Amino acid sequence: MEKNEQLYEGKAKKVFATSDPALVIVDYKDDATAFNGLKKGQIAGKGVINNIMSNHMFQILEQQGVPTHFVEQLSERETVVKKVDIVPLEVIIRNISAGSFAKRYGVEEGIVFDAPTIEFSYKNDDLGDPLINDYHALALKLATAEEIERIKTLAFKVNEVMKQYFDSLNVILVDFKLEFGKIADGTIVLADEISPDTCRLWDKNTKEKLDKDRFRRDMGGVEDAYNEIMRRISGK
Ligand code: TMP
Ligand code: ASP
Repeated sequence: MEKNEQLYEGKAKKVFATSDPALVIVDYKDDATAFNGLKKGQIAGKGVINNIMSNHMFQILEQQGVPTHFVEQLSERETVVKKVDIVPLEVIIRNISAGSFAKRYGVEEGIVFDAPTIEFSYKNDDLGDPLINDYHALALKLATAEEIERIKTLAFKVNEVMKQYFDSLNVILVDFKLEFGKIADGTIVLADEISPDTCRLWDKNTKEKLDKDRFRRDMGGVEDAYNEIMRRISGK
């Protein structure tokens, strides 16, 4: 697969054109940001881990009937994916209180919910990704009502599959963020990444944080946490 011109550079990945207009190559960086890019740093080896982990998760999800953008891993950091128009909604599923939920509602982290929650943020860096509801997303024509329903159904399905998978690794899936895209025929597919950057993952026994919160909160042991998740996923 030919890697042609760079189409886009985001905070954690670059996207390149290929000879096939329906396919692009994503290239994962070690760059890490938090608080809408206010905090910047590097997490050594993160790009490799996030690439391999995302591809692993996408393949498990495909087997469970969730369509994804995944096509083929090219190298440690590079993967061929379907070219999509990203739906500008960050889809957040929560199983346990943490992060902005705990802060917004003034509750401690670690409350186990009876049922998972879903919320959307409008993916817009200039506005700081504000929380948005279905009606406002429709008003702004970010997606159709049918697309929003499909996204919700898929996001809860992803949660069921991932919760069970992480449980088998002795990891609690606290919450996570998904992004969906549309391929040329309008089909909604899961896109972006699934990694310790985009999930809160706690060790089941010690409740130790094994995700990007260690970077966001200056807790130290960031690389160790990413490596530990990688170790469990690869079954070592
Ligand atoms: P939050 O509690 O800060 O709203 O985060 C919820 C989940 O979404 C958490 O697993 C981290 C993830 N997330 C991202 O992937 N990107 C982001 O920009 C933010 C704010 C959160
Ligand atoms: N990706 C986000 C940013 O840089 C932050 C985060 O993951 O908390 O804004």
